[in-house]
Amino acid sequence: MSDVAALCEGVSPLTGRLEQWQHRLLAEPQLISDLLDRHGSPVNLIDPSPMRRNAHDLADTAASEGLQLGIYFARKANKALALVDEALSLDLGIDVASEAELRQALERGAPADRIILTAAVKPAALLSLALESGTTISIDNEDELRLLKRLCRRSGRSATVALRVAPELGEDRIQTRFGLQAEEVVKLAGRFAQADELVISGLHFHLDGYSAADRICAISQCLDLIDQLSENGHTIDFLDIGGGIPISYLESERQWRSFWKRHTSESLTFGGHPLTNVYPYYQQPVRGTWLRGVLTAPVNEGIAVADALRRRGLQLRCEPGRSLLDGCGMTAARVEFRKQRRDGTWLIGVAMNRTQCRSTSDDFMVDPILVRADGGDGAPIEGFLVGAYCIERELLTLRRMRFPRGVQVGDIVVFPNTAGYLMHILESASHQIPLASNLILRDGDLEPDAIDAAAALI
Ligand SMILES: Cc1ncc(COP(=O)(O)O)c(C=O)c1O
Repeated sequence: MSDVAALCEGVSPLTGRLEQWQHRLLAEPQLISDLLDRHGSPVNLIDPSPMRRNAHDLADTAASEGLQLGIYFARKANKALALVDEALSLDLGIDVASEAELRQALERGAPADRIILTAAVKPAALLSLALESGTTISIDNEDELRLLKRLCRRSGRSATVALRVAPELGEDRIQTRFGLQAEEVVKLAGRFAQADELVISGLHFHLDGYSAADRICAISQCLDLIDQLSENGHTIDFLDIGGGIPISYLESERQWRSFWKRHTSESLTFGGHPLTNVYPYYQQPVRGTWLRGVLTAPVNEGIAVADALRRRGLQLRCEPGRSLLDGCGMTAARVEFRKQRRDGTWLIGVAMNRTQCRSTSDDFMVDPILVRADGGDGAPIEGFLVGAYCIERELLTLRRMRFPRGVQVGDIVVFPNTAGYLMHILESASHQIPLASNLILRDGDLEPDAIDAAAALI
């Protein structure tokens, strides 16, 4: 395996985990360089195949606790259609967050009863498409339910809905904007669903963060609600616990701890920028092991979550985005310049902008990999990767990087494990710089994803 840190690492290193396909590609600098010539910089390189392992990890864990898990791929985490195809080939459902996402899922052959619509805002056109197709709709608020009911009347169709619950998790948790209070759930179930127009077949929640304890608490509240709804004559089939299933991007807990220790006493970031809101890029337990912790935890009635679900005949569903895409992508871009500011700080200009490798986290806390396409080594430097937007703080990563053998124009910077959110959730085409191409690895070739052709038509 190549020593990926040989050419670039953070001044306090945070080495990313890499898949075999990533090691193979990184060993072919000329190939990546040719892709950048052909498709522009940056390019998103996507291999859908790790999704199988990730999904099996979750499904096998649930099965070992006696549950058949309904996994709905949260498509908002990445727009590539090849990932929808991969999810469907694995018999997963799809969680959609917009009309385009829903339309595309249907066009790719997703059966409507394997789609859940969880969009934060649902205009009439989106609800109508969901209704016509038979997609399950997660209801966030009373106005949405009213509109849906009007659309049902007008079309003569009935809707399958899940009521989205806003669980009570304690004062120190963020007050969620999503979902209905427990009392509202009971009230709306009574008021809106006497007729055949709306069938409430499940309860749903998605929580901020990655805490297993929060999910256990939310499940417990939902089970109580399901009991009440059942007493009131509803037949509830499933409980959907949303996403937020954790993954770990880094190889080493020691590096992660060491970074935070040093961050308190020395400047590791641009202008000493504090890092206050970051994803836990190293964490344990993750995915299947994390899920086992949830399923084996006791709920109110003193039995394990898995037993409580089974006892009620409920299907457990989830909507993983990031955790299904673990290992599915990386983003490559070309170095265009090196320069020193008046104060001597080195800036390395890369042909991409910061929205092309960003999430809601303050920084992407995984070291980029430097691939040397041609040219020799130079003097060691430390500096910051800057991007294409005309903004002083246009940093591709806030952390200072070290280049032990220099950095050359034409070198390639590769950000590992970017498929979950990092590529797309905040990407913009400001300055009229085109969005990145999304290339799918299939049988050794990298070809543009169909989403890029669809975007070109808009
Ligand atoms: C309703 C809903 N479900 C699922 C997800 C996916 O979450 P994650 O990628 O953390 O698994 C999200 C993410 O925002 C969401 O809003």
